[in-house]
Amino acid sequence: MHPRKKHVLLILLLLLSSKAEELDPVSTTIAVGMAVGAAGVTGFLSTSIFYYFKESCRPVWISFNSTRLKTDLDNMLFGQHIASRIILKAVNGFMSNTNPKKPLVLSFQGWTGTGKNLASQFIAESIYSKGMKSRHVHLFTSTFHFPHKHMINTYKSQLQQWVRGNVTNCERSLFIFDEMDKMHPGLIDSIKQYLEYYDNLDGVSYGKSIFIFLSNAGGQDITNTAVEFWKAGKGQTEITLKDLEKTLSLSVFNDQNGGFFHTSLIEKNLVDFFVPFLPLKEIHVVRCAMAEMKARNLRPNREVANKVARDMIYFPKDERVFSSTGCKTVKHKLNFYI
Ligand SMILES: *[C@@H]1O[C@H](CO)[C@@H](O)[C@H](O)[C@H]1NC(C)=O
Ligand SMILES: *[C@@H]1O[C@H](CO)[C@@H](O)[C@H](O)[C@H]1NC(C)=O
Repeated sequence: MHPRKKHVLLILLLLLSSKAEELDPVSTTIAVGMAVGAAGVTGFLSTSIFYYFKESCRPVWISFNSTRLKTDLDNMLFGQHIASRIILKAVNGFMSNTNPKKPLVLSFQGWTGTGKNLASQFIAESIYSKGMKSRHVHLFTSTFHFPHKHMINTYKSQLQQWVRGNVTNCERSLFIFDEMDKMHPGLIDSIKQYLEYYDNLDGVSYGKSIFIFLSNAGGQDITNTAVEFWKAGKGQTEITLKDLEKTLSLSVFNDQNGGFFHTSLIEKNLVDFFVPFLPLKEIHVVRCAMAEMKARNLRPNREVANKVARDMIYFPKDERVFSSTGCKTVKHKLNFYI
């Protein structure tokens, strides 16, 4: 055999024997390019170019970076020492299991503006290179995707199809349900079978997907606990999960308006972690404002941040301890001051 042909054969064998998804697109492209140059196997080249530009369900696009998640939670999720720790532990554990039998199901609970969406975004960004823009990340907002009560049955079958279809396309899918408290209680029941322990359902395996439910449910109880700690002269970081645990799942279950109400997600213990989000203090709002300036490529200005924070509404009214809307309106308020 001609030595050059031998070389080409070797490259082809190498390509075929290694699992395609373990090759990164650049080296695939180079290897294939060499093969093509010698033997003209154009199929390989077009495939690799296709995967290089188009997001796929491959490790090139989906690979968990635990350091990134920790850094983002530590540096950018303010005032949430309990949530940060649970999220890191839960996601780390789940992503390092190569054969999970059940998807990871998280319930983020707390008042508006406390960072539930932000934390979801950090999870997405630590797994998918395109973050929230990934085609494998699906955000459902109750008032937007499922607004009409009378259409509940349509929504149910639609949601089932979407979840099944997307997980069929990619096992590593992330589903985020925002405004669970505004969701029709029956809707989530329609996907509960996907959250249970199964090797697979009709040939689809859901074990590698993540479901995150965001709601205000329990927000009042969490806030009450934070106020009690403050009244007792204790620091917010002294609050532990134990102080909140009892109220968490119970309050979701009993919240008459919440989408979890009477759902078997809780009855059947399908939620793996209840994650409490504490109310934010003025110092946290200042940090949010500083972070927002940085995100806008402005030099963070403490004076401006203080002004933004002072503008918020706080409770208890006289002592002004906790921000009623967390960091939610920081972005808008910032526009007035810069
Ligand atoms: C993981 O994230 C850290 C922090 O953002 C970053 O420095 C590092 O390069 C990332 N690692 C990989 C393999 O992408
Ligand atoms: C995936 O989910 C999206 C909604 O996020 C939906 O529009 C799409 O049809 C789903 N894809 C499949 C294949 O079901």
